[in-house]
Amino acid sequence: MLESLSRSLLHRLDPETAHDLSLRSLAAIGKTPLRLAVGQAIEEKPVTCMGITFPNPVGLAAGFDKNAAALDGLSAMGFGFIEVGTVTPRPQAGNPKPRLFRLSEDQAIINRMGFNNAGVDALVNNIKASRYHRRNNGVLGINVGKNKDTPNENALDDYRHGFEKTHELADYVVINVSSPNTPDLRKLQNEASFQALLDGMKTAQHQAHQASGKYTPLVVKISPDQTPEQLEFMATAIRESGFDGLICTNTTISRPLLRNTRLGSESGGLSGQPLLAKANQTLAQMRALLGPDYPILGAGGVLSGEDARSKQKAGADLLQIYTGFVYRGSALIAEAARAWQSAGKKRDSQA
Ligand SMILES: Cc1cc2nc3c(=O)[nH]c(=O)nc-3n(C[C@H](O)[C@H](O)[C@H](O)COP(=O)(O)O)c2cc1C
Repeated sequence: MLESLSRSLLHRLDPETAHDLSLRSLAAIGKTPLRLAVGQAIEEKPVTCMGITFPNPVGLAAGFDKNAAALDGLSAMGFGFIEVGTVTPRPQAGNPKPRLFRLSEDQAIINRMGFNNAGVDALVNNIKASRYHRRNNGVLGINVGKNKDTPNENALDDYRHGFEKTHELADYVVINVSSPNTPDLRKLQNEASFQALLDGMKTAQHQAHQASGKYTPLVVKISPDQTPEQLEFMATAIRESGFDGLICTNTTISRPLLRNTRLGSESGGLSGQPLLAKANQTLAQMRALLGPDYPILGAGGVLSGEDARSKQKAGADLLQIYTGFVYRGSALIAEAARAWQSAGKKRDSQA
């Protein structure tokens, strides 16, 4: 009730102001016992994936809490896991504003934020200061990227830096090669770069494991705009490198038919309801290519329990939400977790 009231007030503000305000409120709530009053407990039906036990299968997708500033408030909302970032080695401002657009009629968002973040050192300090980390309260994914001014030839250095700084704090680390808002970032998904990047990261992971004794699974997050042929070589590279998991998908640069034609022509990545079919298609194809046991997290377009089921049927082991959380708040976490759990682990291929 309180949450839906504040959401309707927030949605009257400029979208980025509203986002900053809700993050700040969540950060403040997380520091006080109020988090117990506003939070919700989701029935625990743990899911094991990549050797990690997730208390429930519904996670927060990357980009909502880029600097890990509100982990404790977010965890009170009932997420089974939280992915923070994308974080880059050095702080950067991101693209000029406005860069975030709410298309309410479409239950969608277009963003061209451009990895605005406070840099990896600030993220590490925030994580260390959180109860979430100190009390080992939940599963944490850390999503790393490259700075805008790092050329693609040196991208591996930035991803390595992100991994080395964060792997001891993370349950898994994601390399994000699929944001459409950093020029040429998506080219890292091309055949010439992709395998080398994954191999380079596996070497970094091996070295970090040897040095620290901690093995941190490595996950790659891909775009929904890849052709079937591209997905084929990506699946081969993922398998050959020994990467530990995959996230399907990031936002799309395509523009399916949208009701809000005015904001629909803004450039950037589209997320939310209009992304569901495309993201599920990519997910189903990667599931078919990688086989039934490969860890895949599904993201893109989940606004209801039924949408959550569609991800599960397309082959996801776990679910992530962003836009649905903006429109529906924590009620969606409970609804998606219930729908997922009541169906069990059943996919189209097994139906
Ligand atoms: C405003 C905004 C910022 C985002 N920032 C990131 C990011 O920094 N890194 C990332 O990997 N994905 C980012 N994403 C993509 C989401 O994590 C997610 O993959 C995508 O939005 C699809 O899920 P959804 O339809 O539930 O929103 C962002 C999405 C939005 C809407």
